Amino acid sequence: MTAQAQLEQVKPDLVWKSDDGLSCLYHGDSLELMASLPAESVDCIIWTDPPYNLSNDGITCVAGRMVKVNKGEWDRSQDIKLDHEFNKAWLTACYRLLKPTGTIWVTALCMCIHQLALPCSSLAFVF
Ligand SMILES: C[S@@+](CC[C@H](N)C(=O)[O-])C[C@H]1O[C@@H](n2cnc3c(N)ncnc32)[C@H](O)[C@@H]1O
Repeated sequence: MTAQAQLEQVKPDLVWKSDDGLSCLYHGDSLELMASLPAESVDCIIWTDPPYNLSNDGITCVAGRMVKVNKGEWDRSQDIKLDHEFNKAWLTACYRLLKPTGTIWVTALCMCIHQLALPCSSLAFVF
């Protein structure tokens, strides 16, 4: 079964498809969606933008005003071990899906990118 056929069985919410039909954007739980796809079926997981876990009730300055840094519960750190387990889970899922020649792009900030170094290294992702 092709990756596309397998994905259609999960019936995810398709929100965009490229004109050539080769690229799609789905809305859903990324761990569930990725688990439904066959291994080594993806050329490039481009632009993962995972939670930064920075919503810790702190403050910052936006346009000269003091505002809370909180973005939502999805961005609140659970604790360092659970954050690590979550990062390991989605990176492992990405690694399983990628072809050996595949590429992953991860968006992060300097305050959180280091949290991805250990799971990336243990999966043998090459930087
Ligand atoms: C740093 S934000 C990305 C924001 C996005 N790039 C944008 O411009 O709107 C991280 C996002 O990941 C989402 N998220 C967290 N866990 C997820 C999961 N298991 N599957 C899919 N999305 C998830 C959060 O709801 C949040 O919107």
